[in-house]
Amino acid sequence: MTYQLPEAHIRALLEAAIAAPSMHNTQPWRFEVEGHVIDVYLDGSRMLPAEDPTGRAMRIAAGAATFNLRCTAESLGYSTWFGLAPYAEEPDLLARIVVEPTGTSNEELSRLARQVQYRHTDRHPSDATPLAHGLRVGLTLAAHAEGAQLNWLTGEDVEAVRDLIREADLLEIHDWHRRTERAHWVGGTRAADGIPSAALGPRSSTYPAVVRDMASSPTDRMRPETVFEDHAEIAVLSTEHDDPADQVVAGIALERVLLTATGEGVSASFLNQPLEFEDLRRRVQRLSGLPGFAHMIIRFSHSRPPTTTGRRPIGEFLG
Ligand SMILES: Cc1cc2nc3c(=O)[nH]c(=O)nc-3n(C[C@H](O)[C@H](O)[C@H](O)COP(=O)(O)O)c2cc1C
Repeated sequence: MTYQLPEAHIRALLEAAIAAPSMHNTQPWRFEVEGHVIDVYLDGSRMLPAEDPTGRAMRIAAGAATFNLRCTAESLGYSTWFGLAPYAEEPDLLARIVVEPTGTSNEELSRLARQVQYRHTDRHPSDATPLAHGLRVGLTLAAHAEGAQLNWLTGEDVEAVRDLIREADLLEIHDWHRRTERAHWVGGTRAADGIPSAALGPRSSTYPAVVRDMASSPTDRMRPETVFEDHAEIAVLSTEHDDPADQVVAGIALERVLLTATGEGVSASFLNQPLEFEDLRRRVQRLSGLPGFAHMIIRFSHSRPPTTTGRRPIGEFLG
């Protein structure tokens, strides 16, 4: 007889999955649970056609949710097996996780599961303490363990990224599709999805900033400003190829990196605006000197962000 996951465990697994990061907190995933098999699907109704026309950001988010599911299953005493894109004819089925009640779970993944509830995007200034060398290595290895690369930027590279951010902003300035879409998801008080004003953090007193200003309303654009760190700790997460399954891998690796950082009291925010334009994205990847495809520009900082973004009820993600 097929093993049936207990209801309480299904709930814990899905709660962890939906705590994952997603662009504009769209939560673009759907789950089907049968026995001890959990399928992760894309939810096409949560697309961002202007800012993510190919769905790459959605697949990254679904990858992050998959990683949370997997480590939470391990923390509940299961062992897990997972496969990406199991059926070519079902492109929205991104991952299948088989949860086995063997009692032999992975300790490292169980440890990371405890960080799921504390990970949040942090758009506040860092206290400017440099990241310890050992932690940089640990984060690099976390990405590598899931098949991605984390390339640390030098001070010169960070300046180059700032230039690319300026170029991205100029490209966006007259693009009302992108601006309207962002206004739909960002600002105000939001309990279930999107980015509430409270999660925007302060404005940076310099431009281009080391934190992305997601504000779209005039009130949010006038929020108080502050000085951000001079020497931001920035790394680019990349994969060797850029097929849909590689983008899911990028999300899995992203969440492993973020949970590893969270466990060390380090949070992250993202400067992805250049990655939303293919030409600028290629130039970001070129900074690493390696072939591949950039998926996330991650700024790490020392601080513990407050919980500010909400999630929809679990029932909305099932079936
Ligand atoms: C693919 C992807 C792209 C994102 N891009 C940005 C970005 O460019 N700037 C930013 O500040 N946050 C970015 N985010 C973070 C989301 O806004 C954040 O995960 C979401 O609002 C949920 O909030 P939380 O991370 O605090 O749970 C991105 C997240 C994902 C998964």
